[in-house]
Amino acid sequence: MKKVLLFCLLATVIFVTLPFGEAEASRKEKEIANVAHRGASGYAPENTIAAFDLAVAMGADYIEIDVQRSKDGKLVILHDTTVDRTTDGTGKVGDLDFKELRQLDAGSWKGEEFAGEKIPSFDEVLDRYKGKIGILIELKAPELYPGIEKQMTKALKKRKMDKPKREEVIVQSFNFESMKLANKLLPRMPIGVLTSSPNDVSDEALKAFRKYADYFNPSIGLVNEELVKKVRKNKMKIQSWTVRTPEAAQFLKEMKVDGIITDYPDYVY
Ligand code: G3P
Ligand code: CA
Repeated sequence: MKKVLLFCLLATVIFVTLPFGEAEASRKEKEIANVAHRGASGYAPENTIAAFDLAVAMGADYIEIDVQRSKDGKLVILHDTTVDRTTDGTGKVGDLDFKELRQLDAGSWKGEEFAGEKIPSFDEVLDRYKGKIGILIELKAPELYPGIEKQMTKALKKRKMDKPKREEVIVQSFNFESMKLANKLLPRMPIGVLTSSPNDVSDEALKAFRKYADYFNPSIGLVNEELVKKVRKNKMKIQSWTVRTPEAAQFLKEMKVDGIITDYPDYVY
């Protein structure tokens, strides 16, 4: 318990003092990006500011965030399409207004020291982490939220984050049609496709993805040397998920993937 509190304190201090661009520079030099899955979610409640700040403090290269939409049209950060598992509320994300979502406690389920953590808005995350750490944006179940790609585009353009120079922002989804659209709306944005299906690793499938995607991001169970070679042959990069043990991190390092998406950023170094 004390260790977690110490981590959080450290996270806040480092977050406030980290000079702009330092995270950028260190990322460039690394071969494998360290991506904090839903933030440093092994140690702090997933998809909250506590988890994202901790990822910064731990030296991750990216935070991965899941973007959905409230009933009244505000983009919010939450993994499940209901609030039941990670908050003290119930119901579908898309059936609740932003005000109702913000009243929920998104921290206590992980530990009483996180009581009062809120569901962040997409705007808040972009403003807080721009220039501090890379952001891997996942559009979660975009089929539930028509027009979410345009809405995301608007938020990124407003902050001049739509043309990342060093891939400091990446957009990904399991929904391939959504990513085709995102590629049209954001032609300079690196786009990723997510999958855990063996059907998606064929040469034909990879050829189809490369028309609009820059990253092929499979679950760890699909990764082997042959797949990594095939992805590179198709001029894409590969980031894999979800690492929850040091052994899994070691395996992906040996596979020489471009990014490791992990709940525990400290397992990657
Ligand atoms: O970034 C990869 C990973 O987040 C995909 O799975 O279910 O954790 O969103 P999930
Ligand atoms: Ca995700």
